[in-house]
Amino acid sequence: MNRIKVNLEKKQSKSYDIYIGQDILDRAGLLLAKNNWAARYIIVTDSNVETLHGNRVLENLRGMGIKTDMISFPAGEASKTMATALGVVERLTELGADRTSALIALGGGVVGDLTGFVASLYMRGIPCVQIPTTLLAQVDSSIGGKTGIDLPVGKNFLGTFCQPKGVFIDLAFLETLAPREFGNGLAEIVKYGVIDDAELLDSLEREIGTLRGDRKLLERIISKACRIKKGIVEIDETEKGLRRILNFGHTIGHAVEAESKYALSHGEAVAIGMTAAVLLSEKLKYLLTEDRERVVSLIGAAGLPGRIPPGMSTDGILSRTKQDKKKAGATVHFVLLKKPGMPFVNGGVPEDLVREVVEEMKR
Ligand SMILES: NC(=O)c1ccc[n+]([C@@H]2O[C@H](COP(=O)([O-])OP(=O)(O)OC[C@H]3O[C@@H](n4cnc5c(N)ncnc54)[C@H](O)[C@@H]3O)[C@@H](O)[C@H]2O)c1
Repeated sequence: MNRIKVNLEKKQSKSYDIYIGQDILDRAGLLLAKNNWAARYIIVTDSNVETLHGNRVLENLRGMGIKTDMISFPAGEASKTMATALGVVERLTELGADRTSALIALGGGVVGDLTGFVASLYMRGIPCVQIPTTLLAQVDSSIGGKTGIDLPVGKNFLGTFCQPKGVFIDLAFLETLAPREFGNGLAEIVKYGVIDDAELLDSLEREIGTLRGDRKLLERIISKACRIKKGIVEIDETEKGLRRILNFGHTIGHAVEAESKYALSHGEAVAIGMTAAVLLSEKLKYLLTEDRERVVSLIGAAGLPGRIPPGMSTDGILSRTKQDKKKAGATVHFVLLKKPGMPFVNGGVPEDLVREVVEEMKR
C-alpha cells in the first residue's frame, strides 16, 4: 500500500494521508480504529455504491469493532443538492450523530463533495474520511478538500474548503466501474500528464491502452496522479492561484458539456476542452505544432473524443464560456500551454479565435 502525505503547512493539523492499494479495506479499518478520529462513523453513499460495495464496507468496519452505520441517497449528479444534504442531516440526527461522530464518503465525486459539505457544517463541523470509488474521485475530487452542492444557478455553487482526515483509495472498487465512468477519470489523468509531469505523459503515451487491465500499472498511475494533485493543493489550498491550472480543458469543457445537455460525459467534455486549449495555444504561438499533436494523439489513444459534435451551436458554446463561474470580472480565463508541463492562465483570448477553433473542431 502506498502512502502519500498531503502537507498543509499553514496548519499542520489539517495535513492528512492518502493510502493507495488493492484490497486495502482491512488496513483502512485498522487505521480508522487506531487513529481515534471519532467514536463512531456514518458511511454516506449513493444507491449504486450501496448495492455494489456498501454492505461489504459496513460489515468490514463493524467486524473490526468500529461502530458504523450507513445512509444513502439516489445516485447521480441530480442528487448533489441542498435537499439531499438536508436529507442526510436529518438521517444523521435520527441516528443520534453528534460531535464525536465522523462521516465516511463512500462513492464517486458526488458522494465525496456532498458528504464533505455536510461534514463541514454539521454541528459546526465533524471529521470526514474519503473512500473514493470512481477513478475520477480517486485521482481528483477526493483530494484537496473542495466540497459542494449544485444550485439551479450553477454547479458547485455552494461549498466549503474542508480537508478530509484521510483518503483510502482501493483499486478493487474500480472493477465494477462502467467504461464511460473510467473515461472520466482517464481524462483527468491525461490532464495531469499534459500540465505537470513529463514522466507521466511519456508513460501514458506508451501504456494508456493497457491501463485498465493492468493493476500494477494502474496503481502506479493513480499514485502519480494523486502526487501531482496533492503537490498543487499544498501550494494553493484554496484555489487562489496555481490550483487554477487544474482547470486546463475545463473552460470549453464545461461549455460543451452543458451545451450537449450532459449527453457528453464530463471526461469527454474535458477531452474536447483540452483539444481546444492546445489548438488555441498553438494559434497564439505559445505551443509548437508537434506538442499540440502529441496531446491530441494521447486523447485519441485514451479513447476520448477531440471533436465537437457538428450540430452543436458555436454561439451557445461561446456564451457558456462567458458564464463559467471561474471567470473574474468580464475576462474569460483559459488555461493554455507553452509546452507540456508548462501551463499558464491567459485572460485575453480573443473571442474570434475561440470561435475559429470551435468551428474547426466541428469539422
Ligand atoms: N471536489 C473536487 O475537487 C472535485 C473535482 C472534480 C469533480 N468533482 C465533482 O465530482 C462529481 C463527479 O464525480 P464522479 O465522476 O465520480 O461521479 P459520480 O459520483 O456521480 O459517480 C458516477 C457514477 O458511478 C457510480 N459509481 C461510483 N462508484 C462506482 C463503482 N465502484 N462501481 C460502479 N459504479 C460506481 C455512481 O453511483 C454514479 O452513478 C461532480 O459532481 C463534480 O463536480 C469534484
